Amino acid sequence: MQGMADVTPDLPVRFEALERAAIEALDDGAAGYVAGGAGGEETMDANREAFDRWRIVPRMLRDVADRDLSVEVLGQELAAPVILAPVGVLSIVHEDAELAVAEAAADLDVPICLSTVSSYQLEDVAETIDDVAGTGWFQLYWSSDRDVTTSLVERAEAAGYEALVVTLDTPLLSWRERDIEEAYLPFLDGEGLANYFSDPAFLDRLDVDPGENELAAIREFVDIFGDPSLTWEDLDWLTDQTDLPVVVKGILHPDDAAEAIDRGAAGVVVSNHGGRQVDRAVPALEMLPEVVGRVGEEADVLFDSGIRRGSDAIVALALGADAIMLGRPYVYGLALDGADGVRAVGQNFLADLDLTLGLAGQRSIEGLDRSVLSERHC
Ligand code: FNR
Repeated sequence: MQGMADVTPDLPVRFEALERAAIEALDDGAAGYVAGGAGGEETMDANREAFDRWRIVPRMLRDVADRDLSVEVLGQELAAPVILAPVGVLSIVHEDAELAVAEAAADLDVPICLSTVSSYQLEDVAETIDDVAGTGWFQLYWSSDRDVTTSLVERAEAAGYEALVVTLDTPLLSWRERDIEEAYLPFLDGEGLANYFSDPAFLDRLDVDPGENELAAIREFVDIFGDPSLTWEDLDWLTDQTDLPVVVKGILHPDDAAEAIDRGAAGVVVSNHGGRQVDRAVPALEMLPEVVGRVGEEADVLFDSGIRRGSDAIVALALGADAIMLGRPYVYGLALDGADGVRAVGQNFLADLDLTLGLAGQRSIEGLDRSVLSERHC
C-alpha cells in the first residue's frame, strides 16, 4: 500500500530546483527571457542579497492555532497577501498561458494581474476569470499613442478588471544580454500582442489587418509600445481616464511614491521589475521601508522583486508592504505543468507562508511589523 509519505510532488518544491527544471524544459530563447535580466544581472543578485539583511525572530507560546492570512488592499479583501505579478508573453512558456494562470489563481484565491503584453486578449482572460470566479487586475503599458492607452484602459474597465496597475519602469526595453545573444525578442515574432491586434485604436493605425501583414503590425507595436517622454504631469491625465484604483508599479524612490499618490494613485508597487530594467539598480527591498515611511499611511504599498519563499514574504510584509507580488516562481510552474504547475507553486508558497507565520509566533499578516525582524549589521 502506498502511504502519503511515498507520494512525491510532481514539481520540484525548492525554488532553485524548480527554476533549473523549467530552464531545462524551455528552449534557450524563452529560458533566457524569463530567467534573465538587464546587463550583468547585478540587480537580480542584489534583490536576493537584500533579504539577507533581515532575520525573523520567532516568538513562543502565543496561541497560533488559528492564523489569518487575509489583508485589505485597494479596499478589496484578499484571502492572502499575494497577487500573481504581471508577466507578459506567457505563450513562450506554455500554450495555455494567461488562461491557465487565471484558472490557477482563482483556485488559490489570489488575484491575477494581467500584463498588457499578454498572449490572450484581455477580454478572453476576463471571461476565464469570471468562469472560475476569480479576481483580475490589469497592468498597463502606457503607449505613446494616447488613443491606444485610453482604449486599453476602457477595455480593461469594461471587462471587469478591478484595478489598473501602471508600470512606469518600462518606457523602453532594457539592455538584456541573454536576449541579444539569442537574438530573442518574442514580440518580434508576434507573441504577446493579442491586446494590440484586437484594439480598435491600434488597428486604426494600420493600413491592413495584422492577419494580412503581421510584420507591419509588429513594427507599429514597436513604435508605440512605450513613451519615454512621459512626466509626472501625465499621471494626472491617466488617473482621470478611469474610475478604477490606479497603482503605479516600478517605484523605488520615496519621492516618486509621494508624487504618485499626490497625483491620484491609490497605491504603489515597490519593484525593480525583477532586475530586468536597470542593471546595478538598488534592490527593491532596500527601498521598501523608506517608501512605506513616506506614503504607507495614506496609500497601499505592494512589493515585488526577489520573493521566492514564505519567509521572503514575511520579511517584506513586516517591513510594511500590504501585499506582495509573486513573479518568476509561478512562471516556472506554468512552464513545467500549465495550470497545475501554477497551482502547485502557489499552494507550496501559501503553505510555507502560513507555517512560517505561525512558527514565528504570529497569528495574522495584518499584525506583522518590524518587531518581528532582527536587522543584521554586515
Ligand atoms: C515580467 N514583469 C513584468 N511586469 C510588468 O509590469 N509587465 C509585464 O509585462 C512584465 N513582464 C515580465 C516578463 C517576465 C518574463 C518576467 C520575469 C517579469 C515583472 C514582474 O511583474 C515582476 O515585477 C517581477 O517578476 C518581480 O521579480 P521576481 O520576483 O520575479 O524576480
